[in-house]
Amino acid sequence: MKTRITELFGIRYPIIQGGMHYVGFAELAAAVSNAGGLGIITGLTQKTPELLAREIARCHDMTDQPFGVNLTFLPAFTAPPYPEYIAAIVEGGIRVVETAGRSPEAHMPALKAAGIKVIHKCTSVRHALKAERIGCDAVSVDGFECGGHPGEDDVPNMILLPRAAEELKIPFVASGGMADGRSLVAALALGADGMNMGTRFIATKEAPVHANVKQAIVNASELDTRLIMRSLRNTERVINNAGVDRLMAIEREKGDALKIDDIIDQVAGIYPKVMTDGDMDAGAWSCGMVAGLIHDVPTCAELIDRIMAQAYELIEQRLKGMLNG
Ligand SMILES: Cc1cc2nc3c(=O)[nH]c(=O)nc-3n(C[C@H](O)[C@H](O)[C@H](O)COP(=O)(O)O)c2cc1C
Repeated sequence: MKTRITELFGIRYPIIQGGMHYVGFAELAAAVSNAGGLGIITGLTQKTPELLAREIARCHDMTDQPFGVNLTFLPAFTAPPYPEYIAAIVEGGIRVVETAGRSPEAHMPALKAAGIKVIHKCTSVRHALKAERIGCDAVSVDGFECGGHPGEDDVPNMILLPRAAEELKIPFVASGGMADGRSLVAALALGADGMNMGTRFIATKEAPVHANVKQAIVNASELDTRLIMRSLRNTERVINNAGVDRLMAIEREKGDALKIDDIIDQVAGIYPKVMTDGDMDAGAWSCGMVAGLIHDVPTCAELIDRIMAQAYELIEQRLKGMLNG
C-alpha cells in the first residue's frame, strides 16, 4: 500500500507501533519493522542515553528495515537529558523520531539538522497545527479512546480525525482504538494516511512483556479501562485492576484537592512490576478501550499481514461491492 506515510518513512505498510514505556524494546520494534510497519523504541525506558544507544544497536542487529525512537516530553521535576538522548538517536543512525507529551519545539533544530523525520503525537487539532507550524513532518492524532494520555478534550477519533483532515497539510496517522483492517480502512476514509497502534502491539508474541499482561488485554472488554488523574489535568487511560481501584478511591475521597503525592504509590515505578514481573494489580498502567477488540496473541507479522489482507478485502469487496450494487 502506498500513502504519504509509507513514502515519508520508507515502509511497506502504513502501520506504526507507538512508543510504549517498558514495552517498546528492540525486540518489538524490530518485529514490527520486519513485518513492514514502523517499529519504535521507547527512548526514556532506557535510563541513560548510553543505554538507549545500546538498545538502538541491538535493534539494528535484528532488522535492516527503518525503525524509530519515541521521545516523550513529560512534566518532571528533573528533566531527562534530552540533548544527550537526541545525540544517541542521531549517532545511532535513526531517521524517525516520534515525539509526544509536550511540544518538541525546543528540540526541532537538533532533530532537523540531523535530517530526522519527526512525527509528533498529540490529542487535539490545535496541537497538531502547532506541530505542523514548527516543522514536524507528520502527526499522530490520538483520540479519546487511546491507551495512555488522551488529553483533556475528550474528542473521539470519529470526529477528531476528519477535523484534523480539514486543517492539516502534513500527513497524519490515526491513533487510539486501532486494531485491525477495519480500523485501517476507516482511518484512511476519515482522512488519515495510516494508523498508529499501542495496546494491540502489546498482545503480540514478540512484545517483551510478561504473559500476564498479554492475557489481561485479551481478557479485557471495551468496558475495562478507566480514566485517572483527571483532576490533575494529566488524564491517563489505564486498565482497571485492584491498584486502580485503590487509586480511584483516593481520588474520590480527595476530590479537587488531590495531589500527585496522594496517589504516588499507585502510579510511580509501576511499569517494571507489571511488564517485567507480571504483577497485574501493582498499580496503573496504560491500556486502550481497543482491548475489547483484541482476542489473541499473534506474531507481529501475522498481525500486520492479517490487517492488510482485511483492509484490501474491505476495499475491494465490501466497499466496491456496495458501489456496484
Ligand atoms: C502500556 C502503554 C505505554 C505507553 N507509553 C507511552 C510512552 O511512554 N510514550 C508515548 O508517547 N506514548 C505511550 N503510550 C501511547 C501509545 O504510544 C499509543 O499512542 C496509544 O497506545 C494508542 O492507543 P491504543 O492503545 O488504543 O492503540 C503508551 C501506551 C500503552 C498502552
